[in-house]
Amino acid sequence: MFWQGKTVLITGASSGLGRGVALHAAANGAHIVATARRVPLLETLKEEVEALGVRCEIVPADATDPVQVQRVLDKAIQTFGRVDVALLNAGGGAAQVMGETTAEAVTWEMRVNFDTVVNFLCPLIAHMKDVGGTIATTSSPAGFFGLPKSGPYSASKAATRILFDSCRVELAHTPLRFVTLYPGFTYTDGLNTEDVPVKALIITKERAVREMAWAIEVGKERHMFPKRIRWLISLGGWLPVSWIQRLLTLFA
Ligand SMILES: NC(=O)c1ccc[n+]([C@@H]2O[C@H](COP(=O)([O-])OP(=O)(O)OC[C@H]3O[C@@H](n4cnc5c(N)ncnc54)[C@H](OP(=O)(O)O)[C@@H]3O)[C@@H](O)[C@H]2O)c1
Repeated sequence: MFWQGKTVLITGASSGLGRGVALHAAANGAHIVATARRVPLLETLKEEVEALGVRCEIVPADATDPVQVQRVLDKAIQTFGRVDVALLNAGGGAAQVMGETTAEAVTWEMRVNFDTVVNFLCPLIAHMKDVGGTIATTSSPAGFFGLPKSGPYSASKAATRILFDSCRVELAHTPLRFVTLYPGFTYTDGLNTEDVPVKALIITKERAVREMAWAIEVGKERHMFPKRIRWLISLGGWLPVSWIQRLLTLFA
């Protein structure tokens, strides 16, 4: 019943996890506002969502640009009156090695994974904090450690993790819920399987979508999955930093 009749805004809805959650929410009765840059993919999504008997507004935008983001929000509110649930999911990464990469490439990663969240987060809080709702974001377990070849990506995902933790504290008196999602390696266009040291760790997109949708439904503050990734990250938190660094050096 959670999704029934709600307006759900999803960024990065053109493919992968965002598209999957959009279809899950629509199948359960939600109206969808879908945004990303690739128009043909958004148009296909719209057809699939509307075939489920709910409404879908697609608003192409580059989420790194606050002006384009405001257009998405204006369109959502003009069409549906309000946003009840937002999944700030746009993002991605490319392998980068510190010492070989450039400052420009590093800050690009922050724009793709941090700015794309913040540009929606601030106006959405202003819009939703009196009436309530859920704001979720797709962070990553990579945001817990400085992984080799992923330093800039890890840093950008750590930034969204910390920002959402602050929101949860500072806005605890409001009816807003903040959900941070930490999917482990998942088969999507965004995953380069060559960068995954142990292929058995990769889960299907369907599984990840189920986990993400469930966490949003129950308002779980932080949800990391699958369990084996959760255990690895917890174990890493207990081990001495020097051990972790030695271990990670093996994958550098
Ligand atoms: N797959 C994994 O293993 C994994 C694990 C942990 C976290 N994640 C995170 O999950 C999220 C979704 O990734 P995915 O795996 O589903 O990969 P994906 O299929 O490549 O999806 C990425 C989405 O982000 C959108 N996007 C990227 N840059 C954008 C921009 N500047 N403006 C607007 N939209 C933008 C893309 O749309 P357009 O290109 O059409 O704009 C696309 O819809 C990402 O934040 C990723 O970091 C993925």
